[in-house]
Amino acid sequence: MSFENLLIESQDGVTRITVNRPKALNALNRATLLELDRALAEVPIEARVLVITGGGEKSFVAGADITEMAEMNATQASAFSAMGHRVLSRIEALPIPVIAEVNGYALGGGCELMLACDFAIASDNARLGQPEVGLGVTPGFGGTTRLVRRIGEARARQLLFTGEQISAQEAQSMGLVNQVVPPAALRDRVNELAQKIVKNAPLAVAYAKRLALATKETDLSTANLLEQQVFGLCFATQDQKEGMRAFVTREKATWKGE
Ligand code: CAA
Repeated sequence: MSFENLLIESQDGVTRITVNRPKALNALNRATLLELDRALAEVPIEARVLVITGGGEKSFVAGADITEMAEMNATQASAFSAMGHRVLSRIEALPIPVIAEVNGYALGGGCELMLACDFAIASDNARLGQPEVGLGVTPGFGGTTRLVRRIGEARARQLLFTGEQISAQEAQSMGLVNQVVPPAALRDRVNELAQKIVKNAPLAVAYAKRLALATKETDLSTANLLEQQVFGLCFATQDQKEGMRAFVTREKATWKGE
């Protein structure tokens, strides 16, 4: 795999994708989105967690690429938005948890990229927001959809209409990021959480993610029925037998992912 704007590494069950255009604060242009699409399709089968972060010290992703968008007509902009949605939906639908390691600016398309991840941990120098209205446009990669679902209508509308940048601490208080840590501690904290996930039964984690996604849009009784069915399905796996055997015998479980 070779990429111009991404770095990809895999270790101990964790694959890390770094959007790496630090000169443009990792802004997402078409080429980078296409690379992300390809990288997602090629996440190794052994990966149990994906981490997405930004290259350099300053930025996670400072949005969609404004220089590129400045030249677009309406048709091209709509196609660009569709491309962004396709890639971010692909992230959201991955069968493994995805953690956003927010190491600086997460603005516009960067905040939207973060929202497509399962949860985010941010460094205390991160700044987040949806500044699109200040550029004469609306969000194009899910700011009016995932943001509302993640933090609620009133908070989302505040960010969408003011275009203000908020601090990592404010983002945490809104439920936009789960935890804020000093920059030097960010990678370790994300790795620590990733390893906690890796230690759990792979199928159970995958099912839990699928349920969390499927039940988001479903009415409560259907969602509970789905949960009930998947709970039953877990008892047809080797991992359920191993997990409960290990608990009863006080041993460490060895997962097969079967
Ligand atoms: N697109 C293209 N280039 C960008 C960029 C972006 N979103 N954000 C930053 N850059 C570039 C700058 O143009 C600059 O390039 P040069 O050195 O070649 O001039 C370089 O990155 C460094 O940026 P600054 O000099 O501006 O750095 P700063 O520290 O002074 O400011 C910032 C940082 C506040 C993040 C500022 O760069 C900024 O406001 N960026 C734009 C943020 C934004 O509006 N994002 C939303 C884009 S619209 C969108 O995302 C639509 C959508 O939903 C799909």
